[in-house]
Amino acid sequence: MDRNLALEFVRVTEAAAIAAARWIGKGDAKKADGAAVDEMRDRFNQIDFSGTVVIGEGQKDEAPELYTGEKIGTGKAPIMDIAVDPLECTDSVAHGRYNALSVIASGPRGSLLSAPDTYMEKIAVGPVAKKVIDLDASVATNIRRAAHALGKKTSEMTVVVLDRERHHTLIHDIRKAGARVRLITDGDVAAGVAPCMPESGIDILMGIGGSAEAVLAGVAIKILGGEMLCRFKPKNEHHAELVKKAGLTTKKIYSANDLAKGRMLTFTATGVIDGPLLHGVRFLEKTIVTNSLVIRGQSGTVRYLTTHHHMR
Ligand code: FBP
Repeated sequence: MDRNLALEFVRVTEAAAIAAARWIGKGDAKKADGAAVDEMRDRFNQIDFSGTVVIGEGQKDEAPELYTGEKIGTGKAPIMDIAVDPLECTDSVAHGRYNALSVIASGPRGSLLSAPDTYMEKIAVGPVAKKVIDLDASVATNIRRAAHALGKKTSEMTVVVLDRERHHTLIHDIRKAGARVRLITDGDVAAGVAPCMPESGIDILMGIGGSAEAVLAGVAIKILGGEMLCRFKPKNEHHAELVKKAGLTTKKIYSANDLAKGRMLTFTATGVIDGPLLHGVRFLEKTIVTNSLVIRGQSGTVRYLTTHHHMR
């Protein structure tokens, strides 16, 4: 993996994040997403690489840009697979809520799981607790084992969960186990990576979220040495068929290693609105300030970039 390419990608997420941030609180999720998608695609096509979108905005007939299978870049070497979410948490931007970012993950051809867009059941932890989680174990058991690995009391554990009706039992079980719950309205990419960053204050992600988000978070988690275990939970029969057609199964538990293979991986994200990983875009008098995270698999380097963009 070209070292400069990882830094080229941050220009892409910065531009997409700025474009999306202009739509914060305006009540229009589609416009916010569209602005990020246009900017991301434009910027990608200025970079010397030959990318195929394996996780994108949907299938070709559903999305005019950055659809699964779309070719991006100038067409020169290197050849790469790309997973994108130009705007993760479109609703958070539309309503001015929390935890939105623009994100890209990359790897060599065939390295990223080409998952159809549906739900997955997930549990994610940082490196210290990676060996003790089990998607089939009870909520209480997972929390107790992770707490033990982290040298914490169960009562000091924080589990992040998407605030959804489908999670009522899960939330009840976490509370019953004696741990603390952080409910988020959206955004389990950042929430999935957060346990790998001890200063995030999050110890575990649990619950059902998007499969695209699982792959994106899985890349960062894999590089950072954490673990995410997940299993497809198709939303309906059609989605179950898509999982099958992709040669995948609802029976298997996928680990971070199954979501992202090898070490030639990158994860790049820029905050749109403040979340557990990154601050959002700030519009100042003459500059726009962005905060980004760039993680390279080959070296394991984690870079936080604060960029001041001069407005012309
Ligand atoms: P979008 O930006 O695509 O709307 O995703 C936001 C998100 O909260 C993801 O982080 C999460 O994986 C997914 O939605 C959960 O789906 P749902 O909102 O259907 O519960």
